[in-house]
Amino acid sequence: MAIDFDKEKQELTRRNFFSLTAWGIYGVGLLGGLALCGKFFVPNVKYGPASKFSIGLASNFPDGAVQNIQDQKVSIIRHGQNIGAISEVCQHLGCTVAASSTGYDCPCHGSKYDAMGNVTHGPAQIGLFWFGISQLPSGELQVDKGNIVPIGTYYVVKS
Ligand code: FES
Repeated sequence: MAIDFDKEKQELTRRNFFSLTAWGIYGVGLLGGLALCGKFFVPNVKYGPASKFSIGLASNFPDGAVQNIQDQKVSIIRHGQNIGAISEVCQHLGCTVAASSTGYDCPCHGSKYDAMGNVTHGPAQIGLFWFGISQLPSGELQVDKGNIVPIGTYYVVKS
């Protein structure tokens, strides 16, 4: 009686194949699970530019002036002791608006805003954001782009 070693060898190979496949699937699943667990320890926060920035002393802004802070896309307006910060980001699709004789115009799709940031011509549906302003103990003013206030909300400078 002859033993068929080749057949036995072929079965072992098939068994090894299925075993390796099972271990492979197990390993991929384990690594995927560990990756998901690892993601739990990474903060789910996007680090962007700070929402607060200093604009210096109120004396930097002459009465009646509208001063653009280009890198922040914000206009600072002053009327007496009242100082306001208006966003220069269009409420339609986010283009930067430009100051005009009547207020602000958006070069992208033609939205127009008055000097207070109210929409006077679409397609934008809402006015430009106004940001909250606070005064530091040093006297410097600080604009907080994370604090959106109603249009026309001024900060009254303490002298
Ligand atoms: S982005 Fe300003 S009108 Fe479209």
